[in-house]
Amino acid sequence: MCGIFGYVGKRNDAGALAVEGLKNLEYRGYDSWGIACKTDGVVLIEKSTGKISTVDSNDFRESCSLAIGHTRWATHGGVTEFNAHPHANGDQKIAVVHNGILENYQELKKDLMEKGHEFLSETDTEVIPHLIEEYLKQTDDFAYAVRMACKDFDGRYAFLALHTESNTLVAARRGSPLIVGVGDDGYFVASDIPAFMEHTKLVQYLDDGEMVVTNGDNIIFSDLETGDEVVKREIEITWSIEQAQKGEFEHYMLKEIMDQKESVARAVNQNEEQIYTLAEAIRNAKGTFLVGCGTAAKACMAAEYFFSVIAEKHVNFAPASEFKLYHHFLLPESLLIVVSQSGETADVLEAMKIAKSKGSKVLAIVNVEGSTIDREADYTLLINAGPERAVASTKALTGQMAVLLLIAYTLADKTQEGKRLLLETSSKINDMLNPRYVEFVESIAEKIQEKSDLFIIGKSWNYPMALESAIKIQEVSYVHAEGFAGGELKHGPIALIEEGTPCIALVGNDEVKADIISNAIELKARGGHIIGISPENNEVFDEWIKVPDAGAAQAIVNIIPVQALAYFLAVKRGKDPDMPRNLAKSVTVK
Ligand code: AGP
Ligand code: GLU
Repeated sequence: MCGIFGYVGKRNDAGALAVEGLKNLEYRGYDSWGIACKTDGVVLIEKSTGKISTVDSNDFRESCSLAIGHTRWATHGGVTEFNAHPHANGDQKIAVVHNGILENYQELKKDLMEKGHEFLSETDTEVIPHLIEEYLKQTDDFAYAVRMACKDFDGRYAFLALHTESNTLVAARRGSPLIVGVGDDGYFVASDIPAFMEHTKLVQYLDDGEMVVTNGDNIIFSDLETGDEVVKREIEITWSIEQAQKGEFEHYMLKEIMDQKESVARAVNQNEEQIYTLAEAIRNAKGTFLVGCGTAAKACMAAEYFFSVIAEKHVNFAPASEFKLYHHFLLPESLLIVVSQSGETADVLEAMKIAKSKGSKVLAIVNVEGSTIDREADYTLLINAGPERAVASTKALTGQMAVLLLIAYTLADKTQEGKRLLLETSSKINDMLNPRYVEFVESIAEKIQEKSDLFIIGKSWNYPMALESAIKIQEVSYVHAEGFAGGELKHGPIALIEEGTPCIALVGNDEVKADIISNAIELKARGGHIIGISPENNEVFDEWIKVPDAGAAQAIVNIIPVQALAYFLAVKRGKDPDMPRNLAKSVTVK
């Protein structure tokens, strides 16, 4: 969801830095881009629809030491050059890039137009530089003017403003991410660390409700409400650029699927004391709610089965965007468990706000340390999956499920049993993900690549994986895929099965195996082409993708060949699996 980049300091290639910085944020998903450079005292703005990857940073080599850049994921106003950021005020002394939504922009825009301001775009963002200009009429302190403007905004945002006269960058955030990079020769401000990581690994996190101002020599963090200075420690990032790059893989998605040879083991490597504490929090809570979005929501759904089957504990799942309707049940003794790869998903942050308003505690299971969700939760468990850059979430999902399954085993006072199962499973995944296996899955994709509909069935913890399989296939290959509880197809959707319709059956050696095989037989009887993902073969399968027998961790294993199938379907259908259309890596708007 959109990328923000800014630099101010002693270097005079800030424009080129902005181009390269935005390229390192492409994985977040966008539809247009723009850059503003202060050159010879004036702001030059260049923007366009399309991909920043086609831009040569050498075209931005004019001497410039103050620049901002943006990759936009349109919410207000179509995908056009005029709506692309940066947006400036009338005299172009203020330029702004923004992530999020200003919910009250229409009334602000109307008021500003009555004061003579002229607007060039349809966006909500464009009110920001004009409103700052209004407040600059009352003060010559640019940062103060920005802070006053922020008091007028409703909604979630992170924005970065440059001011030519004071030669400063000012950033403010309420809900969307912003991180400062501390360079040897100036300061970076960006949506995510890869934007400036080749220049510095020293970062300072901007928290919600804070702002930061820098002229490249010094930097001040302050509270948006009070203006009081806030002290920020510098944090050294430990992971390498290589980890964040593709390595020998053509796409991040395949790299991250293969990362699962180690990432499940990393997720299990938790502080046991902390796991006990969190299990006790669940045991003692008056109502535990599991909340997430998209793929992370499927980890939550699978965890409902983990807690039920392993720990005989009832927990409640809700999609984060639906959680608002559950507030009646929240007590100070309740516990909200939120699951999120990016730690920036707006709907999850909204759910956390609801829980906190009732005094409930929040446990976050995230991949990105220092993310907003990490810093706003009462407790956090990191899944340690390493950077996940592809829009389609893969290794984060299996890491999330591993952590949740470990907590379920701990709740059942069987931590060591759970740890042993998960480490064995990790080892089996490592063996499974060998070149021949990947080629075999690719051959299955080859067979079904022309199909326009695809159905997936599962039962128990494989039911959420059937839903997740559908998301994976939909979002990267654009094939119509639907996931169902095995028993549900005969109550309607089976009418859609025709001769040769591919139907994936997710199977485990568990108490529901006979049921799901029976469901597959019903599909086959109507012409379905059955692809069994199972530890053992079965005569109902037209294709058999063998997976290790992983017991209660079967869901973690079964989803991996589907991830690879989705990847190869995308590539064979000529799609870019890393940056699927209309989607973003982190949905930081509601
Ligand atoms: C998953 O492949 C999608 N990219 C999307 O559904 C994603 O899982 C969802 O937006 C939640 O993101 P999060 O895990 O960063 O909160
Ligand atoms: N709401 C702003 C717009 O539509 C920002 C969108 C974004 O986060 O990229 O331009």
